Amino acid sequence: MPRFDAIGPLRAATTGWRAKGERVVLVPTMGALHAGHLALVAQAHALGRRVVVSIFVNPTQFGPTEDFSRYPRDVEADLALLAEAGVDAAYLPDVETMYPAGFSTRIEVTGLTEGLCGEYRPGHFAGVATVVAKLVNQVGPDIALFGEKDYQQLRVITRAMRDLDVPVEIRGVPTLREADGLALSSRNRYLTPAERALAPQLHATLSRIAGALAAGEPSAGPVAKGRAELEAAGFSVVQYLSVRDAETLAPVEEVVRPARVLAAAYLGRTRLIDNVPVVPIG
Ligand code: PAF
Repeated sequence: MPRFDAIGPLRAATTGWRAKGERVVLVPTMGALHAGHLALVAQAHALGRRVVVSIFVNPTQFGPTEDFSRYPRDVEADLALLAEAGVDAAYLPDVETMYPAGFSTRIEVTGLTEGLCGEYRPGHFAGVATVVAKLVNQVGPDIALFGEKDYQQLRVITRAMRDLDVPVEIRGVPTLREADGLALSSRNRYLTPAERALAPQLHATLSRIAGALAAGEPSAGPVAKGRAELEAAGFSVVQYLSVRDAETLAPVEEVVRPARVLAAAYLGRTRLIDNVPVVPIG
């Protein structure tokens, strides 16, 4: 599997593929790859002839007190997984390649970034939108894939690429879960065994709320009950538990069009996020 660290040779490869009419699909990641990433790679193979996976732990999307320095990094294991998955190219730029001296540009998406994770992670989505725009410009894919686990991120990236006329199609891929419902995440490895045992409660609570909403209940009751359940289960801080329009992320009282129940909560020092769809019945 070819590995690229520099923009020029990477672009030469992807431009060559596209010139032959081969569709290129990009899967941007921060490494510490797990089965959820491999599901994105499988979907990429289904959608295009050439699959590029980027690995870059992007410093600009971490806050000063967040886990940038301890974010899991295991490049050799990641590359082995990607080679086994038949990826056509791995792209591993370093920080100087992505943010050379004098770098001064930031993409700010308004509205969509103002609640949910945006409220608790100031600057996070500007970091994400900026790095994704750069990766897309560097790779030149026809399609870029993102997991639905980071649902607000998916909406923000879709908006930014549309607003800036970036010629790429952004697609979401449903969240892969452990058998007990826990969404796969690189950060799950931070959980102690006791926390890991409690973690599936997050998905269970979101699913109960989604069921009540799909059956026509207004959101306030199930959301209040769900928050109490999470706190009773041992989640130390529930940052948000909210029902939002699936496209605009505007708060929703009664579900009449596709919506999403989203949450962020701490188990000990680990912040977990998850979300589930709500499709109104009838
Ligand atoms: O979801 C992630 O892993 C990151 O936010 C992304 C999209 C690769 C940008 O750094």
